[in-house]
Amino acid sequence: MNNHEAIGFIDSGVGGLTVVKEALRQLPNERLIYLGDTARCPYGPRPAEQVVQFTWEMTNFLLEKNIKMLVIACNTATAVALEEIKAQLKIPVVGVILPGTRAALKATKNNRIGVIGTAGTIKSNAYEDALKGKAPNTFVSSLACPKFVPIVESNEYHSSVAKKIVSETLNPLQLKKLDTLILGCTHYPLLRPLIQNVMGNEVNLIDSGAETVSEVSMLLDYFDIANSPQHKNEPNEFYTTGSAKMFQAIANNWLDMETITVEQIRLASFKG
Ligand code: DGL
Repeated sequence: MNNHEAIGFIDSGVGGLTVVKEALRQLPNERLIYLGDTARCPYGPRPAEQVVQFTWEMTNFLLEKNIKMLVIACNTATAVALEEIKAQLKIPVVGVILPGTRAALKATKNNRIGVIGTAGTIKSNAYEDALKGKAPNTFVSSLACPKFVPIVESNEYHSSVAKKIVSETLNPLQLKKLDTLILGCTHYPLLRPLIQNVMGNEVNLIDSGAETVSEVSMLLDYFDIANSPQHKNEPNEFYTTGSAKMFQAIANNWLDMETITVEQIRLASFKG
């Protein structure tokens, strides 16, 4: 079956582009529509109820565009809103936490896994619960890294300041004998070289977002809603609630594309 409808991606800002990058590679026939709520980023320090509310607002915007699947490309939103949104939508809804969990359990040899994420994700215990739910003997060390998202959103992720902040923040993880570290925030893959440098090459870094695309691919086949090459007529669409210029600068660089068109939109306060 051919399906011309798009897959929707939502995040608090540019972080979900790390998932889109992988989707462009693994699923080039699909049309993608992305919305980043940059104006209200970061979500990490916000109360759970507010993150749920904002996530609904983004979801409803994309539902208006007739998406065939929704990817919550944000760990903070997945942790608090996935179950509710999944229960209410008729289309498949995918979060980033379970795919990251599965990949980490597959990669670890010593059962010592670290999780880094926003304050909201770490406070929710979503990764720890998922890891221990599947493999109770796993040692899990979790750390909130609230300074990472602002570095990425301000396009400073290559700077020497970024290097210093990453090194100082990850310091407490260095003595934990971890062999696997989950990048439990979709913004963090942009800091990956700095994180790998601090943790050492022997530590497996798990990009939850990238792992999620394998699940998306599997679900497209399972529901028989994958697109075929000759039907990808319309371009991908990118929306932000913040500065289109800043979003575009980061997106062009990260996605390694000539130019993408980004439109600034306003979200209606509305709960599904
Ligand atoms: N990219 C998001 C995540 O995966 C959230 C970042 C934020 O807004 O704090 O958690």
